[in-house]
Amino acid sequence: MGSLEADLRHRLQSAFTAVAGDGADAALRRSKVADYQADGALALGGRLGRVPRRIAEEVVAAADLTPLCRHVEVAGPGFINLTIADDTLGARATAALTDERLRVELTAAPQRIIVDYSAPNVAKEMHVGHLRSTVIGDALVRLLEWVGHDVRRENHIGDWGTPFGMLIEHLVDVEETDGAGGRSAAELTAFYRAASTKFADDPDFARRARERVVLLQNGDGETRELWSRLVASSMVYFGEVYRRLDVRLASDDVVGESHYHDDLPATVAELDGLGLLSDSDGALCVFPDGFSNRHGDPLPLIVQKSDGGFGYASTDLATIRQRFGELGADRVLYVVGLPQRQHLEMVFAAARQAGWLTDDREAVHVGFGSVLDRDRRLLRSRSGEAVTLTDLLDEALRRAAAAVADKSPDLTPEEQTVVATQVGIGAVKYADLANERHKDYVFDYDRMVAFEGATAPYIQYAHARIHSISRRGGVDLAAVTGPVVIGHRREHELALELLGFPDVVANAADSLELHPLCRHLHDVAVAFSSFYDDCPVLGAEPEVRRARLALCLLTARTLAQGLDLLGIAAPRRM
Ligand code: ARG
Repeated sequence: MGSLEADLRHRLQSAFTAVAGDGADAALRRSKVADYQADGALALGGRLGRVPRRIAEEVVAAADLTPLCRHVEVAGPGFINLTIADDTLGARATAALTDERLRVELTAAPQRIIVDYSAPNVAKEMHVGHLRSTVIGDALVRLLEWVGHDVRRENHIGDWGTPFGMLIEHLVDVEETDGAGGRSAAELTAFYRAASTKFADDPDFARRARERVVLLQNGDGETRELWSRLVASSMVYFGEVYRRLDVRLASDDVVGESHYHDDLPATVAELDGLGLLSDSDGALCVFPDGFSNRHGDPLPLIVQKSDGGFGYASTDLATIRQRFGELGADRVLYVVGLPQRQHLEMVFAAARQAGWLTDDREAVHVGFGSVLDRDRRLLRSRSGEAVTLTDLLDEALRRAAAAVADKSPDLTPEEQTVVATQVGIGAVKYADLANERHKDYVFDYDRMVAFEGATAPYIQYAHARIHSISRRGGVDLAAVTGPVVIGHRREHELALELLGFPDVVANAADSLELHPLCRHLHDVAVAFSSFYDDCPVLGAEPEVRRARLALCLLTARTLAQGLDLLGIAAPRRM
């Protein structure tokens, strides 16, 4: 048994095909006037030179909809309006309730998928771009894992390259004076800035920095030791951010740029052997097919600079080679901001030309837009700099704490603290994930922590409310088995929403778009709220009470599962 919608689609589609032949599309969708509507007859009218209404009537006569639908009618010029039978909803909701996976099927084609996400840079603070990558990447990891893929997380941190020359030299200078230890995020920024200033102003320092890069690349022991200290102090900071964000990324998932250092010469040699390298002013470049600037000149990926050094593109080529080669990935997702689109597409094209990426494998740029302030400018702090992640999370948690204190005064102070964190972090994640990924979005603290509207707290609150019903009634929700029986219009609407969950999850996993899942959870929460306004649960007759509790349980489990896929906590008390 597939999902309700799949079943309905299948039955209607057969009827459309029977009436109008192959290629006839039922065009089924959710509807405001009924539960579903199928508009396919309208497009067929022109094609077959017939009155659409007649076609629709023939489809209805041919369709096997009897147990599934309670009411089917042809309306207007030829819309087919369909209302699902209460018994069907009840039976399917009961089946979902007794299924661990809520009727969400495992994928028929499990893949090994590598997700490259977060990827902050050592000795630099994380910014909102890293936040988006971390939040989106983590949700995709959870989702793809849950539908049965073999998912590997990779945090491709920026821990290599020319800036490390100046950073290490600066570390040497600083340690001579104050023996620097662990560094806070703000100190990291100051450290990076001081190093760049010195690099720009002091030629002797700049010379030392350049020599240091060579020492680092040649594996000099002392240099490597200093480098690893810089990496370690940043890792402490990244780990702190990941812990606060409650994401799955751990230190085991770090496969930074430095990891590919030893592989670079072999990567270049392979590209050379394949005849893909050309010399451009002394630098070795790949010119992937199909990329040119506005004058029509082909664009290069610089594989090795004229001084023999390697850069960002070299590392990305070695990375993709390893991911599809040694690691045997079927698919690699690059959760990286849209400004890097062209760079990544060029890397993918080069990998295809090198034969690392074949037709049965896929590299996907999971791109995303920027974060804007209320005036639609790039989000900045008061002093005009990019807002740091730490400040942003602090502020979100502060507002969440105020909102929770206001809305949930009954909680103990300890509970309030825990819930405020779950609400604040959930709010930040939901506000990001609920937008179409490619679009820029406006960061609005007050709106995201509001208990009304399409927000995490609204959904979390609906979930907590169900647990509060069970507490008040002394009901062990986990022991509720149903059956779900649908009698009231609001029960009907809520069950219909809940039965949409499997399709929404499957579509999200296929499309890598998370905003429809966000919207769906909001729709479920809204339907629950209308249901609860109109349908007493604890005060109902025993049989109705049992059936309504079952519907409540299915709602709570769907919300909790859906939020978990997004990386958002579902507190039981709010
Ligand atoms: N570290 C880079 C940045 O902060 C992102 C790296 C993305 N991943 C990759 N394979 N290029 O912009």
